[in-house]
Amino acid sequence: MSDIRIATAEDQVLLDKEAKYCSYGDTVHYIEPPRIFSRCEGSYVWDTEDQAYLDLQMWYSAVNFGYANPRLNNALKQQIDTLPQIASQYLHKGKIELSEMIAVDAKKKFGLDGRVHFNVGGSQSIEDSLKVVRNASNGKSLMFAFEGGYHGRTLGASSITSSYRYRRRYGHFGERAQFIPFPYHFRGPKGMTKEEYGSHCVQQFARLFETEYNGVWDPKVGSSEYAAFYVEPIQGTGGYVIPPMNFYRELKQVLDQHGILMVSDEIQMGFYRTGKLWSIEHFDVQPDVIVFGKALTNGLNPLGGIWAREELINPKIFPPGSTHSTFASNPLGTAVGLEMFKMTSEVDYGAMVMAKGKYFLEGLQDLQKRFPIIGDVDGLGLALRCEICAADGFTPDKATLDYMVEEGMKGDMVVDGQKLGLILDVGGYYKNVITLAPSLEISYPEIDLGLKLLEQLLVRATKR
Ligand SMILES: Cc1ncc(COP(=O)(O)O)c(C=O)c1O
Repeated sequence: MSDIRIATAEDQVLLDKEAKYCSYGDTVHYIEPPRIFSRCEGSYVWDTEDQAYLDLQMWYSAVNFGYANPRLNNALKQQIDTLPQIASQYLHKGKIELSEMIAVDAKKKFGLDGRVHFNVGGSQSIEDSLKVVRNASNGKSLMFAFEGGYHGRTLGASSITSSYRYRRRYGHFGERAQFIPFPYHFRGPKGMTKEEYGSHCVQQFARLFETEYNGVWDPKVGSSEYAAFYVEPIQGTGGYVIPPMNFYRELKQVLDQHGILMVSDEIQMGFYRTGKLWSIEHFDVQPDVIVFGKALTNGLNPLGGIWAREELINPKIFPPGSTHSTFASNPLGTAVGLEMFKMTSEVDYGAMVMAKGKYFLEGLQDLQKRFPIIGDVDGLGLALRCEICAADGFTPDKATLDYMVEEGMKGDMVVDGQKLGLILDVGGYYKNVITLAPSLEISYPEIDLGLKLLEQLLVRATKR
């Protein structure tokens, strides 16, 4: 094991400038000194000393199709040479065709007519969805959301994000969520199967509507004080928690009975991360609104947006100018988004991601057998989790995972003569979960490599 890594003289100059000129409000330095990177390709990034790191988190799932994906990069380059910029009030082909692709796909999958609109970034798209559901419910500002849920850090989005930490200093603008337990089976009460626990969570939620005295429902007029339930079908920041397959179907029945909309936040799990375009597709329900961002452009442009049912978003009910950003539907973003849709319709991404995910998960299960500190592993497609615990395999052990992340960033592991670092993301209610989001283009030998690197980190952690 090597000592703490020292920044190079050149990096140190930059770090000193960062300390003086950059607000730290928009970032978190998970390791000290933070690494500075200079190039990327496929599943790898290289630091300023040209040290390669295998990336198993891909910019929190924004780069699903690999760094510097040639086809998507070329789409951007071509757009730069034709129509790189145009004010949102004018139209361009890319915006219309991308909206059509998303809406036609939704019609096919959910049997619903709907429309798409764009904004910049995930949180801003969440804000737009809040406007849509507030508007459709005559201005109701209360939402349901999950414990462990994450929807972004603008004021509205952080109001429906479970961590009070993100709200503590800023107060509220009127939006507010009631947080409902998510069926996190590994940490749920003992004695129930995963499905039983899913039903149990729905029943607990349904209890709220049994009488007016539970605070959310007026049985006299049949109206809830809550406009929508915001769900991440698979929890992202919450630790890639996969609910039982019966869960959303049963939850949606309760919502439909009480006139509450379901908003599926696909910002992290969308675009084939779980083997489907939208992760909600695994659960056999019709969402009312879908919010997307991140991998729409493979991280090349901050384009995000929403799809909503026609009844909620048609121009009569949600008139022109209801939301706007100068950069919404910018042609560089829509060009890459469109190319991404074409690319993923030519190859069976669903089957490919499910097969790679199964292989990766088997490798994690094998590690779990050999390392008692792995309490839980699970996965859906290439959204995989590995929960690091104390020797009892249950007590969350954040300190050990932090240590593993730091060791990975040293870039000093050797596999088959190759010196490498490993980039991991940390999530989970107790910050003890490796949330694995490898490139969907990752090769099988690269998955093997990732597992070998993880094994080396586990050995280091165990010997510590
Ligand atoms: C599920 C989910 N929703 C919303 C967001 C916020 O998106 P952005 O960071 O682009 O504002 C994120 C970002 O990680 C996310 O994972």
